[in-house]
Amino acid sequence: MKFTVAIDGPAAAGKGTISRAVAGRFGFAHLDTGLLYRAVGMKGGDPVLAARGLTAADLAREDLRSLEAGQAASKVAVLPDVRAALVAFQRAFARRDGGAVLDGRDIGTVICPEAEVKLFVTASAEIRARRRWLELEGEAFEDVLAQVRERDDRDMNRADAPMRAAEDAVVLDTSEMSVEAAIAQALALVAAKLG
Ligand code: DC
Repeated sequence: MKFTVAIDGPAAAGKGTISRAVAGRFGFAHLDTGLLYRAVGMKGGDPVLAARGLTAADLAREDLRSLEAGQAASKVAVLPDVRAALVAFQRAFARRDGGAVLDGRDIGTVICPEAEVKLFVTASAEIRARRRWLELEGEAFEDVLAQVRERDDRDMNRADAPMRAAEDAVVLDTSEMSVEAAIAQALALVAAKLG
């Protein structure tokens, strides 16, 4: 069975949590596509070569969740050749047998426009920055907020595969919503589509 759940949206909106919950409930495989860009950004050297030669070890680095890796990812993600190098792997993952959940910025628009379920998970920049700040140690809130805004701006305004909701995506604003409520909505959408 092929069944793809595309979950897009800005940083710290709750995509990861929702994706893991959906994958766990329905037994689907999960790919956090941001990790691919983070690994390319942190590898150093020519980012296009890094994307073409990405290895399992690159994806296992412990520093991929840092603010630095997020910024580096967003910078290499504007390069069309970097994006192109990562497309085939993501497409194959999306259409693997047994179902897949992919979270990122362009899953519903570019990687898998035929996804059976598309969600665009968002929240205000202040709320996302606060969530990220609570997870980090030793960062000033204002710095985290500035980085969230900078990254949103770069991700939304790049020419190639900018972050945006697909026309047929369900938008979930988690600003005023508990994690449990957001997960419940996502699970209900997938369950309805699976019949
Ligand atoms: O989801 P994340 O915060 O780990 O993503 C890090 C950066 O990678 C994000 O700012 C933009 C880029 N990215 C992308 O361009 N396309 C994706 N599908 C996933 C991430």
